[in-house]
Amino acid sequence: MMPEIEFLKQALPNAHTVYLIAAIDEIKLYLTEPKALEFARTHLDLNDGVAHLNLLDHQLYFVLVPNETYSQEEGLEYLRKKGYDISKNLAYYKAKAVQLVTTSGDTKPLIALAEGLALSNYQFLKYKSDKTSKSLHSITITGPGLSAKHAEDLYTVIEAVFKARDLVNEPVIYLTAEQLSHEIGDLADQYGFSLEVLEKKDIQAYKMGGLLAVNEGSPNPPTFNILEYKHAKAANTHPIVLIGKGVVYDTGGLSLKPTPGSMDSMKCDMAGAAAVIGTFMAVAKAQLPIHLVGLIPATENRPDGNAITPGDVITMMSGKTVEVLNTDAEGRLILADALHFAERYEPSLIIDLATLTGAAARAIGKEGIVFMGTADADTKAQLTEAGMQTCERLVEFPLWREYEDYMKSDIADLKNIGPAEAGATTAGIFLKHFTTYPWLHLDIAGPAFKEGGEWNYRGKGGTGIGVRLLCEFLNEFVG
Ligand code: BES
Ligand code: ZN
Ligand code: ZN
Repeated sequence: MMPEIEFLKQALPNAHTVYLIAAIDEIKLYLTEPKALEFARTHLDLNDGVAHLNLLDHQLYFVLVPNETYSQEEGLEYLRKKGYDISKNLAYYKAKAVQLVTTSGDTKPLIALAEGLALSNYQFLKYKSDKTSKSLHSITITGPGLSAKHAEDLYTVIEAVFKARDLVNEPVIYLTAEQLSHEIGDLADQYGFSLEVLEKKDIQAYKMGGLLAVNEGSPNPPTFNILEYKHAKAANTHPIVLIGKGVVYDTGGLSLKPTPGSMDSMKCDMAGAAAVIGTFMAVAKAQLPIHLVGLIPATENRPDGNAITPGDVITMMSGKTVEVLNTDAEGRLILADALHFAERYEPSLIIDLATLTGAAARAIGKEGIVFMGTADADTKAQLTEAGMQTCERLVEFPLWREYEDYMKSDIADLKNIGPAEAGATTAGIFLKHFTTYPWLHLDIAGPAFKEGGEWNYRGKGGTGIGVRLLCEFLNEFVG
C-alpha cells in the first residue's frame, strides 16, 4: 500500500517521530529529561549516527546527517538507507504513521530520508491470500524549507516507482504484451497521457521485422505502444523519446537460456518498459511542461514451433538485414525497430532503457546502469548527475569504432551477437545502427530485479529502477 505523504507545519506531540539533526547537541531541542538526553547522546555516538528511544506509546528516532567523509549525493543515499532501517523498526512496533522533522532549511536530506522510508513500504500482495498490508499509512514531513509541494512531488514519484515494481513483479501468465497495453491504457486515462496501441497487423504493416521475428515463437501476439504527453507550454519543441524494452518474458527462444536458474527472473525483461510507464505517470501527474513520446515494443521471447532459428536472416523496419545467431539476443531486435520508428518524431533526444545484457550486470553488478550513446557531452553529464542525485547511477561505456567489426555478418548487414567480450558494448553498437538522432542507451540488467532478500529501500523483485532517474532528469530539464 502506498502511504500518504503530507506536509505538516508543526510536528504533533506524542507521535512516532524521526528527527533529522545536523549536530548531536540538537537533541536538546526535543529532549529535556537528563537520562533521555544522555541515552540519545551515547547512542548517536555509538550506534552509527542513529538513536532510538522507545517511549512506550511512541517511538523517537534521531538521525544525524552524515559526516564530511560523505559527498552530498552519498549523504542522500545514506539517509535513504536510514529510512529503510527505521521503516523496519517501525514495522516491529506496528506503527501506521510517522512524522519526519528537521530544523534545517536544506530540504534534500529530509526528502531523501522520507523517500527511503516510503520506498521501503512496497509489498506485492496481489497473489497472496492474506492481503493485509504491513506498511505505513501516513508519512508527514515538517521543516522550515518544506511545503505541500515537496510532499506531493515525493508522492508522485514514489507512486510511479511502486507501479513500475508492480508491473515487473507480474508474471507473464497475467502480463502478456496485450495485457501490458491494457495496463498502460488504464494509466493513460488515469494520469492524463495518450496511448496508441499497434496490434500485430499494424506491426506487420510497418514491417517491424525485429519485433515480429522475436514474437514468432510465442502463442501470444506482440504490441507496439506509443505513449504521448504534450504540455501546452512544453520547454522543448522537438520531443524527447523514451523507449522501453518490453520483453514480457525471455526464455531465450530456441537459444534457450542455458544456465540453471537463469530464466527464473526473466519476467523482469520488461523493466525498461516499466520505467518508461512509471515516468509517464509521474510527468503527467506533475503536469511537467514538456513534450514526451514513449515507445514500448512488447512481446514474449519463446521457442514455439515457428520460432526464429539461429542462422535466420530477418529484415528490420529500417530495411537493414540481421543474421540472428542467438535468439536470446532478442532485446536489440525489438529496440532497433523502436529506434527506427522514433525518427518520425524528429526527437531532440532518445533514451532507451533495457534489461539488455548479462554482460552489463557482470561488469558493474547491481550498483549502477551501464550507458552509452551519441548524445552530446552536456546531455550525458545532466543524466549522469541525475543518476548521482537519485543513486540510480550511470557509468559510460565506449562505442569505439573498432567494435563495429565485431557485429559484421558474412551474409547480412549485421549479426545480432558479438564475441564473448564486450557484450554490453556490442549490444550498444548494434543499436547505434538504427539511430539517426541524439541517443542514449541505458542497460539496466544489473539493478532491475533483486532475487532473494530485500535490497534495502529498493526492495525485492522489481526495483523500479529508472523512474527516479528519469523524473529527476526531466525535472531538471524543464528547470
Ligand atoms: N534479457 C537478457 C539480459 C538479462 C540478463 C537481463 C540478466 C536481466 C538479467 C537478454 O535478452 C539476453 O539474454 N542477453 C544475452 C545476450 C547474448 C546472447 C549476446 C546475454 O546477456 O547473455
Ligand atoms: Zn534474451
Ligand atoms: Zn531479454
